[in-house]
Amino acid sequence: MSYLTLLSEKKLGYTLITLNRPDKLNALNGQLLADLHHALVQAQHDSTVHAVVLTGSGTKAFAAGADISELHTLDSHSGLAFSERGQAVMNLIEHLGKPVIAAINGFALGGGCEIALACHLRFASDNAYLGLPEVSLGTLPGYGGTQRLTRLVGRAKAAELILAGERISAQDALAIGLVNDVVSQDNLLARVERFIQVMLSRSQTAVREALSAILAAEELGHIEGMHYEAERFAALCDTPDFKEGTRAFLDKRSPQFQHQQ
Ligand code: COA
Repeated sequence: MSYLTLLSEKKLGYTLITLNRPDKLNALNGQLLADLHHALVQAQHDSTVHAVVLTGSGTKAFAAGADISELHTLDSHSGLAFSERGQAVMNLIEHLGKPVIAAINGFALGGGCEIALACHLRFASDNAYLGLPEVSLGTLPGYGGTQRLTRLVGRAKAAELILAGERISAQDALAIGLVNDVVSQDNLLARVERFIQVMLSRSQTAVREALSAILAAEELGHIEGMHYEAERFAALCDTPDFKEGTRAFLDKRSPQFQHQQ
């Protein structure tokens, strides 16, 4: 399947999606959001795909935000639809059911930063800058940024970033826990690939359940979250991968996982 605004490539065990409007620093217009939604659903339904990596084309930007030429035309009515449409794509990333990893290869601003925030892990190149500059345009982050950044880095840091609208370097993002690691741009995809290959050596049945329990930590209260964790733990006890993983340890050999439910 080919897209107007992105490239979607199947790699060994994962899909690499590259946002591809380099002349506009991969700014998110309606077409790109529609293409991204489609490519994500394809990856979600492909049982040979165990993770998704999102990155930007070129060396300058992951994505420089929502397309400001589209933003400029909004009123309160169309603005609500605009925000909800973007939020739906971010929610799809977060609830894809498989790990989604942002490889932030340059500017991740506004909606670009919000895509990264919806991902489960974020690796950045050392030339990257992240930020939510919406207040400088007279608006606020409308694709989930106020909620996800606050959960991730806490209210004080989120307020500092959102209310001043200034961007921060990848190193500063690392210091506040906004990204998992920073590497040179040349090594960015290799760094992500290394994480994926380790993860692929584990039981994918267990990885999926663990991811869903991690998300529950944000979405459920503490007691409900503990209950959810115990339920998922119990469900895994009946799976072939659990029997194989524990047996292999006792037999002092490597496990051969089937990755079935
Ligand atoms: N929407 C639409 N177009 C955008 C864009 C966006 N969010 N971000 C960049 N572009 C376009 C520019 O208009 C320019 O197009 P042109 O060559 O047709 O004039 C092209 O991408 C290159 O951007 P430019 O600003 O010339 O690059 P730069 O290196 O000088 O600056 C940024 C890079 C990222 C600092 C700057 O582009 C910027 O501030 N972008 C907007 C970021 C933002 O506010 N995002 C939040 C939106 S809600």
